Amino acid sequence: MERAPRGRVGASPAATFHIDPGRTDTFVRGDRSVAQIVLQEIVKQYGSLTVIDHLNLTMEDNEFTVLVGPSGCGKSTTLRMVAGLEDVTEGEIFIDGKAVTHLDPKDRDVAMVFQDYALYPHMNVARNMSFALRLAHYPKAEIDKRVREVAGTLGIEDLLHRKPRELSGGQRQRVAMGRALVRDASTFLFDEPLSNLDAKLRTQMRAELALMRQRLNKNMIYVTHDQVEAMTLGDRIVVMHEGYIQQQGSPEELFKRPANKFVAGFIGSPAMNFLDGQVSEEGGHPMVKGAGFSFRLPETRREALAGRGNPKVTVGIRPSVFVPAEEGADAVNLIRLPALVSEYIGAHSVLIADCGGTQVTVEIDSETPIAVGQELSFTIDPGTIHLFDTESEESI
Ligand SMILES: Nc1ncnc2c1ncn2[C@@H]1O[C@H](COP(=O)(O)OP(=O)(O)OP(=O)(O)O)[C@@H](O)[C@H]1O
Ligand SMILES: [Mg+2]
Repeated sequence: MERAPRGRVGASPAATFHIDPGRTDTFVRGDRSVAQIVLQEIVKQYGSLTVIDHLNLTMEDNEFTVLVGPSGCGKSTTLRMVAGLEDVTEGEIFIDGKAVTHLDPKDRDVAMVFQDYALYPHMNVARNMSFALRLAHYPKAEIDKRVREVAGTLGIEDLLHRKPRELSGGQRQRVAMGRALVRDASTFLFDEPLSNLDAKLRTQMRAELALMRQRLNKNMIYVTHDQVEAMTLGDRIVVMHEGYIQQQGSPEELFKRPANKFVAGFIGSPAMNFLDGQVSEEGGHPMVKGAGFSFRLPETRREALAGRGNPKVTVGIRPSVFVPAEEGADAVNLIRLPALVSEYIGAHSVLIADCGGTQVTVEIDSETPIAVGQELSFTIDPGTIHLFDTESEESI
C-alpha cells in the first residue's frame, strides 16, 4: 500500500507503481490482448500552472482502470495525454511497450469517448458510428455488422437513421460511445461517458459496460468523478486529487484500507465520519476518546500507536458500521447518539445524529422508526475504526 506525504503520493519513489522495462520485450505487436499503458514521471504544465506533477502509473494488460477524483484534479488531462491530444511537458508514455509520447493520436491505436462529445450533426447515427471504419476503408458488410452489434449493446438500434439533433442527451452520449466501440483499437479511453444519463439509464449502462468489458479483452481507462461508478466498474481504481495520485488499488483495498483521509472520505457513500480524538492506554487496552465517544481499539493497533509523540488523531467511522445496541446494554464500544434528522431512502434510513457537537451519519435498517431527538445506542466493532494523523492526514 502506498504511504507517502499527503498530496505527494504520485511523486514519491516509495509509491508501488512499477515500471519494468524488461517486460516490454515480451509484447508481441499484433496480439491485441497484451496492450499495456505506462505513464512515467508525467508532468503537465499550462504556462506556469502545473496540473499534473510527476505522475507514475502502470496499467496492466487488459485491465479496466478507473481514474477518479473531484472536478479539476487532472483526470481529463491525463486521459488526453494518453490519447495524444495534449502534449506532455515532461515524462514518457508507453502503450504496448512502445514509446508513444510524441506520436500523433492516429498512430497510437487508441479510441476515446470524450467528456464533451461532439457528433457530426449532418450524419445519422449509423454514419456517425461508422465514421472511423469508413475512413479506414473497412468492407461495407463488416462495417454494418459492427455498427449493428454495438448499437444493440447500447440499446440504440432503433435510432440508427436519426440525426443527432433528433436524439436526447443520453441517446447522443450512447452514440458517442458507440462511435469509439466499433473501432478495433487496443486501448479504449472513456471520459465520463455516462454523465448525461439519468439515474436509471446510468445504472443500466454501467452494467452493460461491465459486461462489455468481459467480452472485449481490451485495455480500458475510464474517467469519472463518481466513486460509485468507479467502485462498480474498476478492476483497479486510481484516486487523484490536485494532480497527484493519492492511492491506487482494488475497490476493496480502497474501501477497507484507505491510505489517507482524502481517499477515506472520497470512497464510500454515505461518506466516512471524521471525529477529533486522542489515543491513550487504559486498563491495558489501546483506546481512542473524544467528545461523545470512547472506543477500545484492537490490540493489533498498539504497535502503530506506540511511540507517537502526539496523542491527537482523526477518527474515521463509516456510517454502515454502527450496530444498534440493546436498551440498557453495557457493551464495549457503546455510543449514544441523539438523532437530528432521519432520511428514509428505501432500502435503509440515513440518520444524522449528534456526537459531542459533531454531526455523524449513521446507516440503519429502514424498519426502525426514529423520532427527532430520540437517543439511540450503537456498538462499533473496534476493527472497523480508522485512525488518521491530524497533521499529515495519513492513515495510521
Ligand atoms: N487548456 C488549459 N489551460 C489552462 N489550464 C487548464 C487547461 N485545461 C485544463 N486546465 C486545468 O487543469 C486542471 C485539470 O483539468 P482537467 O480537465 O484534467 O480536470 P478533470 O479532473 O477532468 O475535471 P472534471 O471532473 O471537471 O472534468 C484544472 O485545474 C483545469 O482548470
Ligand atoms: Mg474532465
